[in-house]
Amino acid sequence: MVFERKDIKLKDGRTAVLRPVETGDAEALIDFLRQVSGETPFLLRNADEVTCTVADEKRLLEGKRNHPKEIMMVVEIDGQIAGNCGIVSRGSLRRICHRCGFAIAIREAYWGLGFGSAMMEYAFSLAAGMGYEQVELEVVEGNERAKKLYERFGFRPVGVIFRSLRYDDGSYRDECAMVKLLKEN
Ligand SMILES: CC(C)(COP(=O)(O)OP(=O)(O)OC[C@H]1O[C@@H](n2cnc3c(N)ncnc32)[C@H](O)[C@@H]1OP(=O)(O)O)[C@@H](O)C(=O)NCCC(=O)NCCS
Repeated sequence: MVFERKDIKLKDGRTAVLRPVETGDAEALIDFLRQVSGETPFLLRNADEVTCTVADEKRLLEGKRNHPKEIMMVVEIDGQIAGNCGIVSRGSLRRICHRCGFAIAIREAYWGLGFGSAMMEYAFSLAAGMGYEQVELEVVEGNERAKKLYERFGFRPVGVIFRSLRYDDGSYRDECAMVKLLKEN
Protein backbone atom coordinates (compact mmCIF):
# COMPACT_ATOMS: atom_id res chain seq x y z
CA MET A 1 0.00 0.00 0.00
CA VAL A 2 1.13 3.52 -0.70
CA PHE A 3 0.74 6.00 2.15
CA GLU A 4 1.50 9.65 2.90
CA ARG A 5 5.08 10.78 3.48
CA LYS A 6 5.73 12.08 6.97
CA ASP A 7 8.56 14.30 8.20
CA ILE A 8 10.14 13.68 11.58
CA LYS A 9 12.36 16.13 13.45
CA LEU A 10 15.44 14.77 15.19
CA LYS A 11 16.75 16.05 18.52
CA ASP A 12 19.74 17.58 16.65
CA GLY A 13 17.41 19.62 14.41
CA ARG A 14 17.76 17.49 11.26
CA THR A 15 14.68 16.24 9.42
CA ALA A 16 14.11 12.69 8.25
CA VAL A 17 11.23 11.40 6.19
CA LEU A 18 9.09 8.29 6.60
CA ARG A 19 7.82 7.19 3.21
CA PRO A 20 6.62 4.16 1.25
CA VAL A 21 9.21 2.24 -0.77
CA GLU A 22 9.52 3.02 -4.47
CA THR A 23 10.81 0.67 -7.17
CA GLY A 24 13.72 3.07 -7.63
CA ASP A 25 14.88 2.09 -4.09
CA ALA A 26 15.68 -1.48 -5.20
CA GLU A 27 19.45 -1.22 -5.41
CA ALA A 28 19.76 0.91 -2.27
CA LEU A 29 17.54 -1.50 -0.34
CA ILE A 30 19.64 -4.53 -1.33
CA ASP A 31 22.76 -2.68 -0.07
CA PHE A 32 20.85 -1.70 3.06
CA LEU A 33 19.75 -5.28 3.77
CA ARG A 34 23.29 -6.57 3.21
CA GLN A 35 24.70 -3.98 5.62
CA VAL A 36 22.17 -4.46 8.44
CA SER A 37 22.36 -8.25 8.10
CA GLY A 38 26.10 -8.01 8.77
CA GLU A 39 25.76 -5.52 11.63
CA THR A 40 23.54 -7.51 13.96
CA PRO A 41 23.01 -11.17 14.89
CA PHE A 42 19.34 -10.40 15.53
CA LEU A 43 18.01 -10.63 11.95
CA LEU A 44 17.19 -13.84 10.08
CA ARG A 45 19.77 -13.57 7.30
CA ASN A 46 23.51 -13.73 7.12
CA ALA A 47 24.86 -10.93 4.91
CA ASP A 48 26.00 -13.48 2.28
CA GLU A 49 22.40 -14.66 2.00
CA VAL A 50 21.28 -11.34 0.53
CA THR A 51 21.39 -12.61 -3.04
CA CYS A 52 18.33 -11.14 -4.74
CA THR A 53 18.78 -9.26 -8.00
CA VAL A 54 17.67 -5.67 -8.57
CA ALA A 55 14.90 -7.01 -10.84
CA ASP A 56 13.64 -9.37 -8.07
CA GLU A 57 13.73 -6.55 -5.55
CA LYS A 58 11.83 -4.22 -7.89
CA ARG A 59 9.11 -6.85 -8.27
CA LEU A 60 8.92 -7.25 -4.49
CA LEU A 61 8.67 -3.49 -3.95
CA GLU A 62 6.00 -3.14 -6.62
CA GLY A 63 4.07 -5.95 -4.91
CA LYS A 64 4.28 -4.13 -1.57
CA ARG A 65 3.05 -0.87 -3.12
CA ASN A 66 0.09 -2.64 -4.74
CA HIS A 67 -0.83 -4.85 -1.78
CA PRO A 68 -3.98 -3.49 -0.07
CA LYS A 69 -2.98 -4.80 3.39
CA GLU A 70 0.81 -4.63 3.47
CA ILE A 71 3.23 -1.75 3.73
CA MET A 72 6.96 -1.35 3.42
CA MET A 73 8.28 1.90 4.85
CA VAL A 74 11.72 3.47 4.78
CA VAL A 75 13.20 6.25 6.88
CA GLU A 76 15.42 8.46 4.77
CA ILE A 77 17.88 11.07 5.95
CA ASP A 78 20.36 13.10 3.90
CA GLY A 79 19.34 11.07 0.82
CA GLN A 80 20.22 7.75 2.46
CA ILE A 81 17.94 4.94 3.60
CA ALA A 82 18.62 4.64 7.33
CA GLY A 83 16.02 2.01 8.12
CA ASN A 84 13.01 0.11 6.97
CA CYS A 85 10.03 -1.67 8.44
CA GLY A 86 7.07 -3.61 7.18
CA ILE A 87 3.59 -4.71 8.04
CA VAL A 88 2.90 -8.11 6.52
CA SER A 89 -0.39 -9.93 6.13
CA ARG A 90 -0.82 -13.31 7.83
CA GLY A 91 -3.33 -14.22 5.11
CA SER A 92 -6.81 -13.35 3.93
CA LEU A 93 -8.73 -16.22 5.56
CA ARG A 94 -11.49 -14.85 7.79
CA ARG A 95 -10.12 -16.55 10.94
CA ILE A 96 -6.68 -14.94 10.65
CA CYS A 97 -7.16 -11.74 8.66
CA HIS A 98 -7.21 -9.67 11.89
CA ARG A 99 -3.50 -10.46 12.43
CA CYS A 100 -0.41 -8.89 10.87
CA GLY A 101 3.32 -9.34 11.34
CA PHE A 102 5.93 -6.62 11.84
CA ALA A 103 9.66 -6.42 11.11
CA ILE A 104 12.13 -3.55 11.43
CA ALA A 105 15.85 -2.85 10.91
CA ILE A 106 17.90 0.33 11.16
CA ARG A 107 21.54 0.86 10.22
CA GLU A 108 23.64 0.79 13.39
CA ALA A 109 24.93 4.33 12.78
CA TYR A 110 21.35 5.58 13.24
CA TRP A 111 20.34 3.64 16.36
CA GLY A 112 19.09 5.63 19.34
CA LEU A 113 17.86 8.63 17.32
CA GLY A 114 14.20 7.71 17.67
CA PHE A 115 13.77 6.27 14.14
CA GLY A 116 12.56 2.92 15.50
CA SER A 117 9.91 4.61 17.66
CA ALA A 118 8.77 6.96 14.89
CA MET A 119 8.44 4.15 12.34
CA MET A 120 6.55 1.94 14.75
CA GLU A 121 4.11 4.66 15.72
CA TYR A 122 3.33 5.42 12.08
CA ALA A 123 3.27 1.77 10.93
CA PHE A 124 0.88 0.70 13.69
CA SER A 125 -1.53 3.55 12.97
CA LEU A 126 -1.51 2.46 9.30
CA ALA A 127 -2.03 -1.18 10.36
CA ALA A 128 -5.08 -0.18 12.43
CA GLY A 129 -6.38 1.78 9.44
CA MET A 130 -6.03 -1.35 7.26
CA GLY A 131 -8.33 -3.18 9.66
CA TYR A 132 -5.79 -5.23 11.62
CA GLU A 133 -6.55 -5.89 15.29
CA GLN A 134 -3.16 -7.17 16.42
CA VAL A 135 0.51 -7.02 15.47
CA GLU A 136 2.79 -10.01 15.99
CA LEU A 137 6.56 -10.39 15.92
CA GLU A 138 9.43 -12.50 17.17
CA VAL A 139 12.48 -11.05 18.89
CA VAL A 140 15.74 -12.96 19.39
CA GLU A 141 16.77 -13.64 22.99
CA GLY A 142 19.38 -11.03 23.99
CA ASN A 143 18.05 -8.26 21.75
CA GLU A 144 17.28 -6.04 24.74
CA ARG A 145 17.14 -2.80 22.75
CA ALA A 146 14.35 -4.14 20.53
CA LYS A 147 12.53 -5.97 23.33
CA LYS A 148 12.43 -2.88 25.57
CA LEU A 149 11.15 -0.82 22.66
CA TYR A 150 8.42 -3.35 21.87
CA GLU A 151 7.35 -3.49 25.52
CA ARG A 152 7.16 0.30 25.57
CA PHE A 153 4.79 0.05 22.59
CA GLY A 154 2.52 -2.38 24.44
CA PHE A 155 3.75 -5.71 23.08
CA ARG A 156 3.52 -8.57 25.55
CA PRO A 157 5.47 -11.81 25.45
CA VAL A 158 3.25 -14.76 24.53
CA GLY A 159 5.70 -17.62 24.14
CA VAL A 160 9.14 -18.86 23.29
CA ILE A 161 10.26 -20.50 20.07
CA PHE A 162 12.94 -22.88 21.28
CA ARG A 163 16.20 -22.87 19.20
CA SER A 164 14.58 -20.61 16.63
CA LEU A 165 17.88 -19.46 15.08
CA ARG A 166 20.94 -21.60 14.36
CA TYR A 167 24.17 -19.68 13.78
CA ASP A 168 27.15 -20.68 11.65
CA ASP A 169 29.20 -21.48 14.79
CA GLY A 170 26.64 -24.14 15.73
CA SER A 171 25.01 -22.17 18.57
CA TYR A 172 21.25 -21.65 18.86
CA ARG A 173 19.07 -18.88 20.21
CA ASP A 174 15.44 -18.87 21.24
CA GLU A 175 13.01 -16.22 20.05
CA CYS A 176 10.32 -14.57 22.12
CA ALA A 177 6.95 -14.23 20.36
CA MET A 178 5.20 -10.94 21.20
CA VAL A 179 1.75 -9.57 20.41
CA LYS A 180 0.35 -6.04 20.61
CA LEU A 181 -3.39 -5.41 20.41
CA LEU A 182 -4.26 -2.46 18.17
CA LYS A 183 -7.81 -2.43 19.40
CA GLU A 184 -8.87 -3.65 22.84
CA ASN A 185 -12.09 -5.69 22.65
C1 LIG B 1 15.77 -2.38 17.46
C2 LIG B 1 15.91 -1.12 16.61
C3 LIG B 1 14.89 -1.19 15.48
C4 LIG B 1 15.64 0.10 17.50
O1 LIG B 1 15.71 1.24 16.68
P1 LIG B 1 16.17 2.67 17.26
O2 LIG B 1 15.98 3.65 16.18
O3 LIG B 1 17.51 2.54 17.87
O4 LIG B 1 15.06 2.89 18.37
P2 LIG B 1 14.77 4.24 19.17
O5 LIG B 1 15.91 5.18 19.03
O6 LIG B 1 13.42 4.71 18.78
O7 LIG B 1 14.64 3.70 20.66
C5 LIG B 1 15.61 2.89 21.21
C6 LIG B 1 15.28 2.75 22.67
O8 LIG B 1 15.99 1.66 23.19
C7 LIG B 1 16.71 2.09 24.35
N1 LIG B 1 17.93 1.30 24.41
C8 LIG B 1 19.06 1.56 23.78
N2 LIG B 1 19.97 0.58 24.05
C9 LIG B 1 19.38 -0.29 24.87
C10 LIG B 1 19.76 -1.50 25.49
N3 LIG B 1 20.99 -2.03 25.32
N4 LIG B 1 18.88 -2.15 26.27
C11 LIG B 1 17.65 -1.66 26.45
N5 LIG B 1 17.20 -0.51 25.87
C12 LIG B 1 18.06 0.15 25.09
C13 LIG B 1 16.98 3.53 24.13
O9 LIG B 1 17.19 4.17 25.36
C14 LIG B 1 15.71 3.98 23.44
O10 LIG B 1 14.74 4.28 24.41
P3 LIG B 1 14.38 5.82 24.73
O11 LIG B 1 13.66 6.33 23.50
O12 LIG B 1 13.53 5.72 25.92
O13 LIG B 1 15.69 6.50 24.92
C15 LIG B 1 17.35 -1.00 16.04
O14 LIG B 1 18.25 -1.03 17.10
C16 LIG B 1 17.74 -2.08 15.03
O15 LIG B 1 17.45 -1.98 13.86
N6 LIG B 1 18.41 -3.13 15.52
C17 LIG B 1 18.92 -4.19 14.64
C18 LIG B 1 17.81 -4.98 13.97
C19 LIG B 1 16.83 -5.51 14.97
O16 LIG B 1 17.18 -5.94 16.05
N7 LIG B 1 15.55 -5.48 14.56
C20 LIG B 1 14.48 -5.97 15.38
C21 LIG B 1 14.33 -7.42 15.14
S1 LIG B 1 13.00 -8.09 16.14
